[in-house]
Amino acid sequence: MATMESLIGLVNKIQRACTVLGDHGGQGMSLWEALPSVAVVGGQSSGKSSVLESIVGRDFLPRGSGIVTRRPLVLQLHKTESGAEYAEFLHAPKRRFTDFAAVRKEISDETDRITGKTKQISNIPIHLSIYSPNVVNLTLIDLPGLTKVAVEGQSDSIVEDIENMVRSYVEKPNSIILAITPANQDIATSDAIKLAREVDPSGERTFGVLTKLDLMDKGTNATEVLEGRAYRLQHPWVGIVNRSQADINKNVDMIIARRKEREYFETSPDYGHLASRMGSEYLAKLLSQHLELVIRQRIPSIIAMINKTIDELNAELDRIGRPIAADGGAQLYMILELCRAFDRVFKEHLD
Ligand code: GDP
Ligand code: NA
Ligand code: MG
Repeated sequence: MATMESLIGLVNKIQRACTVLGDHGGQGMSLWEALPSVAVVGGQSSGKSSVLESIVGRDFLPRGSGIVTRRPLVLQLHKTESGAEYAEFLHAPKRRFTDFAAVRKEISDETDRITGKTKQISNIPIHLSIYSPNVVNLTLIDLPGLTKVAVEGQSDSIVEDIENMVRSYVEKPNSIILAITPANQDIATSDAIKLAREVDPSGERTFGVLTKLDLMDKGTNATEVLEGRAYRLQHPWVGIVNRSQADINKNVDMIIARRKEREYFETSPDYGHLASRMGSEYLAKLLSQHLELVIRQRIPSIIAMINKTIDELNAELDRIGRPIAADGGAQLYMILELCRAFDRVFKEHLD
């Protein structure tokens, strides 16, 4: 029997297949929606991209003040045993990136390809896979930050457009919500918690993350929140210390930043007693474990969904007539074969 980790790997593969299929009709997207993934939600500059980079242990996301993330980024992490570390985009499958600065540039360029060099957003996702010995198997979605007002160069509807886009991800029952709130802001005013509460009132699929603990006013601390007394969720809150803008400007290495973060919690008079449950590495493990658990619980419904997709694919292939030339039809065949293979492997996990 395969390990739990490979279950996430399997789901990753189906999600990729569905993305291709999504371009050829509706079937793939419904299967995609049946599969769990983690959506990162929060206000602009709350630290979403920083949290993602810490989880990956690599510097690869475009960042800065203002609206930087303007298209959803579907980030699939694959743990490699070989030690190899590289990235691949779905829109450029033949190019293998080993330079993570080039990954950042490609995300920016690909964003601009759809939206132009504007402050507009697009709901067409960018799909990026990272292969590394330092990651846990996980699918994360980085989303534009929630805002309060449109800025110069944005349409009046931008605030609502972003909220609707983010909501379309987090309202799905299979979505795990990573709700990011900066510690130097009142939890009661958190956009992330507000939206999470709306779509997940019981808090069963929301993970509360508190960033910027190092930036809190002297004499205050976040133990009320981190110990679950200020705002209760089913899962424990995780505190994070990401790199500051000054660290980023000085090119402080991610691995060093992770170590500094660990030291911060271990030596903190306020959070020392929570140290083993704080920090980006712990968050990554927690999410991966949760994702595995959710996938395992959903195996029967995933199998049902796969079979429904197989039926729909067969119907679609009958409609366009077989055999098919090397166009969209051939791709449908390929995905049909993949679905059948997934069906077999998932059924093995049932026993
Ligand atoms: P996003 O807009 O939510 O994706 O936020 P970013 O990750 O781009 O972070 C916005 C700014 O806040 C950047 O300058 C980060 O360096 C800074 N930042 C994020 N998290 C922390 C943190 O935990 N501590 C400190 N000091 N700065 C942080
Ligand atoms: Na930002
Ligand atoms: Mg961002």
